[in-house]
Amino acid sequence: MSDMNEQWRLITRPDGEARADHFEVQDSEKPTPGDNEVLVRNIYLFIPPSMRLWMNEKESYFPAQQLGEVMMGITLGVVEESNSPDLEVGTYVNGMGGWQNWFVSQPEQLQPVSPHPDIPLETYRTVLDVQGLTAYQGITEICKPEAGKTLVVTAAAGCVGSLACQIGKIMGAKVIGIAGSAEKCKWLTSECGIDAAIDYKSENISERLDALVPEGIDMIYENVGGTIMDSLLDRINDHARIALCGLISSYNGGGVQSTASLNQIVIKTARLEGFLVRDYMHEYEKVIPILQDWVLSDKLKYKVEVVEGGISATIGAMSNIFHGRNKGVQLVKF
Ligand SMILES: NC(=O)c1ccc[n+]([C@@H]2O[C@H](COP(=O)([O-])OP(=O)(O)OC[C@H]3O[C@@H](n4cnc5c(N)ncnc54)[C@H](OP(=O)(O)O)[C@@H]3O)[C@@H](O)[C@H]2O)c1
Repeated sequence: MSDMNEQWRLITRPDGEARADHFEVQDSEKPTPGDNEVLVRNIYLFIPPSMRLWMNEKESYFPAQQLGEVMMGITLGVVEESNSPDLEVGTYVNGMGGWQNWFVSQPEQLQPVSPHPDIPLETYRTVLDVQGLTAYQGITEICKPEAGKTLVVTAAAGCVGSLACQIGKIMGAKVIGIAGSAEKCKWLTSECGIDAAIDYKSENISERLDALVPEGIDMIYENVGGTIMDSLLDRINDHARIALCGLISSYNGGGVQSTASLNQIVIKTARLEGFLVRDYMHEYEKVIPILQDWVLSDKLKYKVEVVEGGISATIGAMSNIFHGRNKGVQLVKF
C-alpha cells in the first residue's frame, strides 16, 4: 500500500442504489496524529444494509452523511502510530474509520479488540460486535422466546437474521426462517439447525406458512418489511411479539407495507417494537462473551464473506446485499 490515503467522498445522493459515480475518489496525504491521538490503518470496512440510509438527506439513526465529506463507515483497523498512553501500536480497534485507508482518532472514540486465537479477526466486526448484539437483544428483550412457541425470522440467512434464528432455537422456540435461495434455506436447516426455511424467491410464502405454522406465529424477528411482513402479520397469534429490527426492502426507496396488515396488531393485541442496537450498548460487555462462547462451542454458525479489492469493491458489496448475492455478511478488505 502506498502512503497516499485513498478517500471516497459522497458528492451526490443516490436515488435508488448507490453507484461509484455518487462518489469522488481523492488521494490525500496520510494524516499525522496530534497529542493524545492515534493513527489507525483500516483493515476491514463492514457493509451494513443501513449504510445506504446514511446517504439520504434525511437523517436516519445517524446524522445524514454530509456531501463532500469522507463517507462514514464502520471499520476494524490497527493502531499504526500512537501519541496516547491508552492505546499501543499494534492494537486492533473497532471504530467509525470511514471509506479511507487511514484516519486519526482520539482513543476514547475507538474500541480495542482482543481476538480469541481460534476465531478469525473479521468476526469481531460482525458477529461478535453490534450485529450479534442486535440479534441477541431483539430476541431476548422483545421476542422473549418460550419453549414450544413459534418464531419466524426474515432475512434469515443474513448476519443478524441467522444469529436471531439460532438464538431463538437455543432458547427453545420452533424457528422458521425466510431467505432468498434454496442454498441459503438448506444452510439454515442443516447447519444452523432451525426447524424449516422458506425460499421467498421461488416458493409461495403464504402456502408454505400455512403448512409450516398452522398454529400461528407467536414471535417475529423482522428485518425486511413489505409484502413478506404482511404475510407474517396476517398469521400472528394473540399477544404476538414483533421485534422490528429493520426494513431492508425499502432502503433503496422501494418496498410497500400494507397498512391493512397493521390492523392485525390491534385485533391480536400484539406488540410491535422497533429498536436500535445503540440503546443496548450497555449490554455489550455482557453479551459478546456469551456469543463468543457459543461460537467456540459451535452452537452459533455464521458466514463472513471478505470482499477483496479495496474501497472500490464497496459499491459491489452493497449491491450484493440488496440482491441477496452475498454468501455471508460483507466485509471489504482494504
Ligand atoms: N435495529 C438495529 O439496531 C439494527 C442493527 C443491525 C442491523 N439491522 C437490520 O437488520 C437487517 C439485516 O441486516 P444484516 O446486517 O443481517 O444484513 P446482511 O447480513 O447483509 O443480510 C441482508 C440480507 O437481506 C436480504 N434482502 C436484501 N434485500 C431484500 C429484500 N428486498 N427482500 C427480502 N430480503 C432481502 C438478502 O438475503 P436474501 O438472499 O435472503 O434475500 C441479504 O443477504 C437489516 O434490515 C438491517 O438494517 C438493524
